[in-house]
Amino acid sequence: MQTIVITGGAGFIGSNFVLHILAKHPEYRVLNLDKLTYAGNLDNLQAIADNPRHTFVRGDIANPELVDHLMKGVDLVVNFAAESHVDRSIMGAQEFMQANALGAYTLLDAARRHQIKRFLQVSTDEVYGSLAPGEAPWTEVSPLAPRNPYSVSKTAGDLMARSFFVTYGMPVLITRASNNIGPCQYPEKRVPLFVTNAIDNLPLPVYGKGTAVRDHLFVSDHCEALDLVLHQGQPGEVYNVGADNDADGEELTKQILDLLGKPHSLIEYVKDRPGHDLRYALDCSKLRALGWQPRCDLKTALAQTVDWYRANEPWWRKIKESWEFRAYYEKQYKKR
Ligand code: NAD
Ligand code: TYD
Repeated sequence: MQTIVITGGAGFIGSNFVLHILAKHPEYRVLNLDKLTYAGNLDNLQAIADNPRHTFVRGDIANPELVDHLMKGVDLVVNFAAESHVDRSIMGAQEFMQANALGAYTLLDAARRHQIKRFLQVSTDEVYGSLAPGEAPWTEVSPLAPRNPYSVSKTAGDLMARSFFVTYGMPVLITRASNNIGPCQYPEKRVPLFVTNAIDNLPLPVYGKGTAVRDHLFVSDHCEALDLVLHQGQPGEVYNVGADNDADGEELTKQILDLLGKPHSLIEYVKDRPGHDLRYALDCSKLRALGWQPRCDLKTALAQTVDWYRANEPWWRKIKESWEFRAYYEKQYKKR
């Protein structure tokens, strides 16, 4: 039996990955380290509550004593733990630097001392900055040019991970994925926010003129890519993970409304996000050469996401009715 530490495993992608690893790798025991911030949710792990191969530990990746203690006898580490929402980072980035930069360092340092076999840092395409229309998609050697506090804090973690490979020869791998969608995404992010607002006939706040372009990677496709890179990637290397499921804000919002049979009049164009990155696009030929390809195109990924939120209303109502979410929504949208 091998032990894999998965951090942030109560969040959106982390919980999907914990379920993926337990299902696909009977030889692994999972140590799930998560601080349970507003975005961490044990409901995401209900299906494995009684699984003897899963142990949940509530704690902070930036706590050196805790992390050092947990790392004993561990084989692999996958670091998802992070503050993940750009809009919150614009309100204040202290916690972003703490978790995404210092937390990543603390985890890397403990992993180095305990001679972990492989460390996967889950990074983001936002480290590359913003593309103009028509510009070629980023490859793994494109310059890093992050433009908002979230992406800067993630770049710090990403580059720190690389420095541990270069400096200490630690077997570190880095993935940079595009926008994920799918089950269990906290409804502050665009797709789950819009789906759940539309179900309730509330306005869908599209930033600016809805021209910013994003790729939409289905979370299970991301999990398969991470599994492949963790096991077959080359240490020291970076792998882009994207699905070429591009859409701009207006197009995507209309597709969500159409899937739910709701009128386009629910769209409300609101003041743009400051420093809004115009376009992200990834060249993923390096990962495809390892043998990965996404299973879900945009239509399928969106339809499966919409179906999940329709079928799991208690999951998101509990969040949207919480004091935390209401206070955030008020601050972010009502006074916009
Ligand atoms: P999320 O916000 O849903 O979950 C983050 C999880 O990390 C939560 O469970 C939270 O409690 C935990 N956490 C936060 N700070 C912590 C700390 N200091 N110690 C321990 N746990 C802590 O985020 P997500 O969307 O699932 O993203 C997961 C990772 O993937 C992040 O590193 C993010 O930067 C990266 N990523 C996300 C996307 C995306 O579209 N969501 C795309 C590319 C990369
Ligand atoms: P988001 O889900 O916050 O991801 P990211 O900023 O990391 O890409 O936003 C995705 C896109 O949706 C981005 O172009 C901003 C836009 N957006 C809106 O138009 N309205 C919203 O309420 C939110 C949260 C995002």
